[in-house]
Amino acid sequence: MIYTINNLFIDNNDKTKKIPKQITVNGWVRSNRINKKVGFLDLNDGSSIHNLQVVYDPNLASNNNLTTITTGSAVTITGNLILTPDAKQPFELKAINTTIYNLCSNDYPIQKKEHTKEFLRENAHLRVRTNTFLALFRIRDQVSWSIHKFFHDQQFIYLHSPIITANDAEGAGENFIVTTITNDKYEKDFFSKKAALTVSGQLNAEAYAQSLQKVYTFGPTFRAEKSNTTRHAAEFWMIEPEFTFSNLQDNIMLAQNLIKTVISDVLNNCNSELKFLQEKQETKNNESLIEKLTSIADAKTNFKVITYTKVIDLLLVAQKEGKKFEFNNIKWGIDLQSEHERYLCEEITKQPTFVINYPQAIKAFYMKLNPIDNNYPEQKTVAAMDLLVPGIGELIGGSVREDNYQQLLKNKNQFKIAGDDLQWYFDLRKYGYAPSAGFGLGLERFLMFITGSNNIRDVIPFPRTPNNLTF
Ligand code: 4AD
Ligand code: MG
Repeated sequence: MIYTINNLFIDNNDKTKKIPKQITVNGWVRSNRINKKVGFLDLNDGSSIHNLQVVYDPNLASNNNLTTITTGSAVTITGNLILTPDAKQPFELKAINTTIYNLCSNDYPIQKKEHTKEFLRENAHLRVRTNTFLALFRIRDQVSWSIHKFFHDQQFIYLHSPIITANDAEGAGENFIVTTITNDKYEKDFFSKKAALTVSGQLNAEAYAQSLQKVYTFGPTFRAEKSNTTRHAAEFWMIEPEFTFSNLQDNIMLAQNLIKTVISDVLNNCNSELKFLQEKQETKNNESLIEKLTSIADAKTNFKVITYTKVIDLLLVAQKEGKKFEFNNIKWGIDLQSEHERYLCEEITKQPTFVINYPQAIKAFYMKLNPIDNNYPEQKTVAAMDLLVPGIGELIGGSVREDNYQQLLKNKNQFKIAGDDLQWYFDLRKYGYAPSAGFGLGLERFLMFITGSNNIRDVIPFPRTPNNLTF
């Protein structure tokens, strides 16, 4: 009977289960040590970060092939499961029969010693054969399933928004062009116009939310941002719920619920992965990764909500008290830099924090204009919300959408949006547009937060960043 190593551990702990004496396991060899009398082979099959220890007698002629097995080799081993409750591991497999598919060459870069993340990034095709990356990508799977389950349970409809588009939804000019020609005569190109990879599925999601009420997208997103930081990737996955008959408060609650629910799913289902990652990390303020996640997942607490205007006040106070920012020209209207965002949630609020009501001029054209404050008529704000979290900065960006056709046309001019490509989007406001809100959650930033990773390149299988397209 073929067993996964994970199921072996589960069934061994379950008194009602009887594991057959003879079992077969597939996997890759993590190490093979041979003493005079006994050989120890550590096998990992990807189902768990735990290895199965295989033991064999190297002096038996029938085990000759086992002694030749190198680290990294792919094998199938049949043997007798022997319980060893007093040893480091609860059981081991006494090999009877071994099939070697491919003996791993001796220049295999992944050896039993500790490798740096930088080295492993250069070996992105092999790094998932280490426990760290095995844990990270098993958690990535859990988080993805949890997100789908969260929305499905709340009757959100999963929407496949297009990858190729003619619009720059965020208006930031960071599109990758999609073309079949070698010049810029796009009127002769495949679509008879300039096409690009999507930077966001939101505009399409808005159209569908005007019938299905609650939709979400979950797909790859592309941004040609030249910012070579630890938090930006040129290709990343974004989750974008969009729901109608809603307001900013509903949007905040949805985002908070999503974060808490997914984190508690990870705590419940990826305990050994989290423990493993936690042991490798230095703790900050003596709070371990699991403690941090447990307190965030607590359903009884709310994340902090604070206006942009208040944030500027707080940053000015901090500055007065001697805090030095690299970008130090702090005043109403500036775009918050990541150092400001992190200072706010790491030093001032010390928790995930929603910043709301940003200046219109620094946000996207589609965000709903707030009523003018007569005391500060020049300070136009929009019903936006960003969720900032310690260690990362911006995790979520969202807003209520401008539902007034005339106002949206004004925004089009103000934000210098050229052409008619978005006319269909403006027209939604003429055809029974119900108030709509939504947000975008960057999957990789969320994974960095959950796993305590400090580089986005480590939580996506094959990262795409400036000057980096090897795999
Ligand atoms: O704040 P952003 O640009 O918002 C939007 O795209 C809206 N259309 C969302 C909406 O309202 N439906 O991006 C949303 C999130 C960010 O908060 C961040 O987590 C992530 O997407 N993100 C990136 N993640 C990795 N690499 C990048 N280059 C990212 N750019 C944005
Ligand atoms: Mg944003």
